[in-house]
Order: sequence, then structure tokens, then C-alpha cells
Amino acid sequence: MTASSLEDRVNQLGPWFHNLRLGDPEVVQTAPHHPLGDFPSNFWQFFSHALPADLSGQTVLDIGCNGGFYSFELKRRGAKRVVGVDHDLVYLNQAQFARDQLQLDVEFIQGDVYDIDRIVHGEQFDFVVFMGVLYHLRHPLYALEKVASLVRKRLLFQSMERGAWETADFAPDLPFEERDVFFDERFPRMYFIEHAYAGDETNWWIPNPSCTRALLRTVGMRIADRPCHEVYVCEPEP
Ligand SMILES: C[S@@+](CC[C@H](N)C(=O)[O-])C[C@H]1O[C@@H](n2cnc3c(N)ncnc32)[C@H](O)[C@@H]1O
Repeated sequence: MTASSLEDRVNQLGPWFHNLRLGDPEVVQTAPHHPLGDFPSNFWQFFSHALPADLSGQTVLDIGCNGGFYSFELKRRGAKRVVGVDHDLVYLNQAQFARDQLQLDVEFIQGDVYDIDRIVHGEQFDFVVFMGVLYHLRHPLYALEKVASLVRKRLLFQSMERGAWETADFAPDLPFEERDVFFDERFPRMYFIEHAYAGDETNWWIPNPSCTRALLRTVGMRIADRPCHEVYVCEPEP
């Protein structure tokens, strides 16, 4: 495929959220004018070190895989099996096209995170990627429970976060009369977006960092690392 026909095909498949580099040499970018810059390469550099450089023999599940950026990066690290799932066929078609161009053996499946256990037939994966999806869900805890149940070794998790950056520990139980704690900005909170945020009607619940941590603990995940804002590397509690 010539660079110009590759570019035409990329444009037909758009709009893209992931800026991938395709072609040989990699001359065509899929989202060169992304508002967040060279996304998500520019973000990945802040936490790529938090996962093993060698994933030989490991299995990976990338939920909400979009154009497949993380699936491809982890396949390049030698993972023996990588499965990407997204409910949006536009993104899934992009991921499949990019996979064929990059000649990386990644399986992409159309499906919803709410059904993720059935989609993968209850199989656990060594590494599960759940980046940038939680706040798009109307039922985030329900989905996160399912995601957590599929993690054998590590969960790479990210959510948009808003509210106080500072976190604090709170008593596991509080008396009914206690009201002040709910004015403490560090108390776990999820902001409910009734209409839209950042022009996006699919943003529903935005946790503060305390809430992200509490949600992860609640579904049985221990936070092993927080390499940068909003990104958590977790492992299942024994
Ligand atoms: C903000 S993008 C994040 C993409 C990628 N994981 C990343 O971090 O760059 C959210 C992705 O989640 C997908 N998504 C949203 N809700 C979903 C759901 N209920 N089931 C599966 N995928 C979903 C969207 O189609 C989109 O590709």
C-alpha cells in the first residue's frame, strides 16, 4: 500500500482517538492533530516502566482498547496472547486495520465491559489493561468488579480524576451523627455528570483520587504502584 492510499484508508476509518504510526517506514499518523498531542504515546512514557519490559509467555486483556495502542505496545513486549475488547465498532475496525498494517498478532473482539467475563469465558489474564474507561460507565463498580475478577497478576488502571489530589485514610465506620467528614474534600467522592463534561456526554462518574483507591480496594485490588497521576498498577489481594 502506498503512503497516500494508506492515508486515504486511515481517513476513511476515522475519526481516530489513538495516534498510531503506520506504514513502512511509519510515515502515516492516524490522529496527528489530537488535542492531547501525540496521544497516547506522550502519556505512555510516564508509566511504561511500571510494566515488565519482557512479557514473554504472558497473556494480556485490553478492555476499552480503542485503536489498540496498549495492545500493540504489550504485544511488542513479547506477550504470547493479547486480546483487545471495545464496544465501539468504529474503534475496533481501526484496531483491526492497524493490527494488519503492523503485522502484530492481536485478537480484537467487539463487546461490552459489562459482559467481559462471558466474552472471555471467565479466563483470567496475567495482565489486564483498563485504561480510560471507568468514567465512561453508568455502572462503574459493577464493571470494575468483573474486570478485577479476570486479573491474574497485574491490573493497569487509569481513570480521569477530579477534586482534591490529596488523599487520606478514614475510619472504616462512622457514627450516623457524623457529618463533617462529608465536607472533607479528601473523602472518597465520585462526581456525577448528568449531561456532559468536556463536551462528552459519555462521561458519567469522575472519582477523586481517594475514591479511585477505595474502588480498587473494594474490588480486591492492592495498589502496588502509582507511576503518575491517574494511573495505578494493582495486583489481586491474596
Ligand atoms: C477514552 S477511550 C480510552 C481508550 C484506551 N483504553 C486508552 O486509554 O487510550 C475509552 C474507550 O472505552 C471504550 N468503551 C467505553 N465504554 C465501553 C464499554 N461499556 N464497553 C467496552 N468499551 C467501552 C470506548 O469505545 C473507547 O474506545
